[in-house]
Amino acid sequence: MSEATLKKVVEAARAAALNAYAPYSGFRVGAAILTGGGKIYAGCNVENASYGLTICAERNAAAAMVLGSSENRKIRLVAIVSPDASPCFPCGACRQVLREFECEEVVVEEAAGLRRYAFEEILPHSFGPEDL
Ligand code: THU
Repeated sequence: MSEATLKKVVEAARAAALNAYAPYSGFRVGAAILTGGGKIYAGCNVENASYGLTICAERNAAAAMVLGSSENRKIRLVAIVSPDASPCFPCGACRQVLREFECEEVVVEEAAGLRRYAFEEILPHSFGPEDL
Protein backbone atom coordinates (compact mmCIF):
# COMPACT_ATOMS: atom_id res chain seq x y z
CA MET A 1 0.00 0.00 0.00
CA SER A 2 1.27 3.45 -0.87
CA GLU A 3 2.07 6.14 1.69
CA ALA A 4 -0.69 8.25 0.12
CA THR A 5 -3.27 5.50 0.74
CA LEU A 6 -2.12 5.05 4.32
CA LYS A 7 -2.42 8.80 4.84
CA LYS A 8 -5.97 8.76 3.45
CA VAL A 9 -7.00 5.98 5.82
CA VAL A 10 -5.52 7.77 8.84
CA GLU A 11 -7.21 11.00 7.78
CA ALA A 12 -10.55 9.17 7.58
CA ALA A 13 -10.01 7.86 11.12
CA ARG A 14 -9.10 11.34 12.38
CA ALA A 15 -12.21 12.86 10.82
CA ALA A 16 -14.39 10.08 12.28
CA ALA A 17 -13.03 10.69 15.78
CA LEU A 18 -14.28 14.27 15.61
CA ASN A 19 -17.84 12.91 15.19
CA ALA A 20 -17.61 10.56 18.18
CA TYR A 21 -20.58 10.48 20.49
CA ALA A 22 -18.81 10.15 23.82
CA PRO A 23 -20.64 12.32 26.37
CA TYR A 24 -19.94 9.90 29.26
CA SER A 25 -16.27 9.09 28.88
CA GLY A 26 -15.19 12.13 26.88
CA PHE A 27 -12.89 9.68 25.08
CA ARG A 28 -13.23 10.08 21.33
CA VAL A 29 -12.11 7.35 18.96
CA GLY A 30 -12.10 7.10 15.19
CA ALA A 31 -11.32 4.04 13.11
CA ALA A 32 -10.98 3.57 9.38
CA ILE A 33 -10.80 0.29 7.51
CA LEU A 34 -9.06 -0.16 4.17
CA THR A 35 -10.50 -3.21 2.39
CA GLY A 36 -8.63 -5.54 0.10
CA GLY A 37 -10.56 -3.85 -2.72
CA GLY A 38 -9.21 -0.42 -1.78
CA LYS A 39 -12.34 1.06 -0.23
CA ILE A 40 -12.27 2.99 3.04
CA TYR A 41 -14.93 2.74 5.75
CA ALA A 42 -14.87 4.78 8.94
CA GLY A 43 -16.56 4.61 12.31
CA CYS A 44 -16.56 6.45 15.61
CA ASN A 45 -17.52 5.35 19.11
CA VAL A 46 -21.18 5.76 20.02
CA GLU A 47 -21.90 5.73 23.75
CA ASN A 48 -25.20 5.20 25.50
CA ALA A 49 -26.80 6.25 28.79
CA SER A 50 -27.02 2.52 29.47
CA TYR A 51 -23.23 2.34 29.48
CA GLY A 52 -22.88 -1.27 28.40
CA LEU A 53 -24.51 -0.57 25.04
CA THR A 54 -21.62 1.59 23.92
CA ILE A 55 -20.16 0.56 20.57
CA CYS A 56 -16.51 1.15 19.75
CA ALA A 57 -15.26 2.96 16.67
CA GLU A 58 -13.68 -0.17 15.21
CA ARG A 59 -16.88 -2.20 15.35
CA ASN A 60 -18.85 0.63 13.79
CA ALA A 61 -16.30 0.83 10.99
CA ALA A 62 -16.61 -2.94 10.46
CA ALA A 63 -20.40 -2.62 10.29
CA ALA A 64 -20.07 0.16 7.70
CA MET A 65 -17.81 -2.10 5.65
CA VAL A 66 -20.27 -4.98 5.79
CA LEU A 67 -23.05 -2.72 4.60
CA GLY A 68 -21.03 -1.03 1.88
CA SER A 69 -18.88 -3.80 0.52
CA SER A 70 -20.67 -7.07 -0.08
CA GLU A 71 -18.01 -8.49 -2.44
CA ASN A 72 -14.80 -7.64 -0.63
CA ARG A 73 -14.96 -7.76 3.13
CA LYS A 74 -11.33 -8.45 3.73
CA ILE A 75 -9.67 -5.88 6.01
CA ARG A 76 -6.30 -4.97 4.61
CA LEU A 77 -5.64 -2.46 7.39
CA VAL A 78 -7.40 -0.61 10.18
CA ALA A 79 -6.23 2.75 11.52
CA ILE A 80 -7.31 3.81 15.01
CA VAL A 81 -6.86 7.32 16.35
CA SER A 82 -8.00 9.29 19.35
CA PRO A 83 -7.45 12.96 20.06
CA ASP A 84 -7.64 11.91 23.73
CA ALA A 85 -5.01 9.16 23.81
CA SER A 86 -1.89 8.26 21.99
CA PRO A 87 -1.70 5.50 21.01
CA CYS A 88 -5.22 4.03 21.12
CA PHE A 89 -5.19 0.26 20.64
CA PRO A 90 -8.36 -1.71 19.86
CA CYS A 91 -10.12 -3.36 22.80
CA GLY A 92 -10.33 -7.13 23.00
CA ALA A 93 -13.86 -7.35 21.60
CA CYS A 94 -12.92 -5.23 18.60
CA ARG A 95 -9.81 -7.32 17.95
CA GLN A 96 -12.04 -10.37 17.63
CA VAL A 97 -14.44 -8.57 15.27
CA LEU A 98 -11.54 -7.37 13.10
CA ARG A 99 -10.26 -10.94 13.09
CA GLU A 100 -13.53 -12.11 11.57
CA PHE A 101 -12.66 -10.20 8.39
CA GLU A 102 -9.03 -11.37 8.10
CA CYS A 103 -7.54 -8.07 9.26
CA GLU A 104 -3.91 -7.96 8.21
CA GLU A 105 -2.54 -4.85 9.84
CA VAL A 106 -3.31 -2.32 12.61
CA VAL A 107 -2.07 1.26 12.60
CA VAL A 108 -2.09 3.49 15.67
CA GLU A 109 -0.87 7.00 16.11
CA GLU A 110 1.79 7.94 18.63
CA ALA A 111 3.39 11.28 19.38
CA ALA A 112 6.34 10.16 17.27
CA GLY A 113 4.13 9.18 14.33
CA LEU A 114 2.30 6.15 13.03
CA ARG A 115 3.05 2.65 14.26
CA ARG A 116 2.11 -0.39 12.23
CA TYR A 117 1.49 -3.84 13.68
CA ALA A 118 0.87 -7.14 11.97
CA PHE A 119 -2.52 -8.37 13.17
CA GLU A 120 -0.91 -11.53 14.51
CA GLU A 121 0.92 -9.33 17.07
CA ILE A 122 -2.35 -7.72 18.14
CA LEU A 123 -4.29 -10.98 18.51
CA PRO A 124 -2.02 -14.02 18.50
CA HIS A 125 -3.31 -17.60 18.39
CA SER A 126 -6.77 -16.35 17.54
CA PHE A 127 -10.02 -18.16 16.88
CA GLY A 128 -11.73 -17.46 13.56
CA PRO A 129 -14.31 -18.59 11.02
CA GLU A 130 -12.08 -21.31 9.60
CA ASP A 131 -11.96 -22.98 13.03
CA LEU A 132 -15.64 -23.87 12.84
N1 THU B 1 -13.33 2.85 22.59
C1 THU B 1 -13.31 2.68 21.24
O1 THU B 1 -14.15 3.20 20.51
N2 THU B 1 -12.33 1.90 20.73
C2 THU B 1 -11.33 1.34 21.44
O2 THU B 1 -10.52 0.64 20.89
C3 THU B 1 -11.22 1.61 22.87
C4 THU B 1 -12.40 2.22 23.50
C5 THU B 1 -14.36 3.72 23.16
C6 THU B 1 -15.46 3.04 23.90
C7 THU B 1 -15.92 4.14 24.83
O3 THU B 1 -16.84 4.95 24.16
C8 THU B 1 -14.67 4.95 25.10
O4 THU B 1 -13.76 4.61 24.08
C9 THU B 1 -14.03 4.69 26.46
O5 THU B 1 -13.82 3.34 26.65
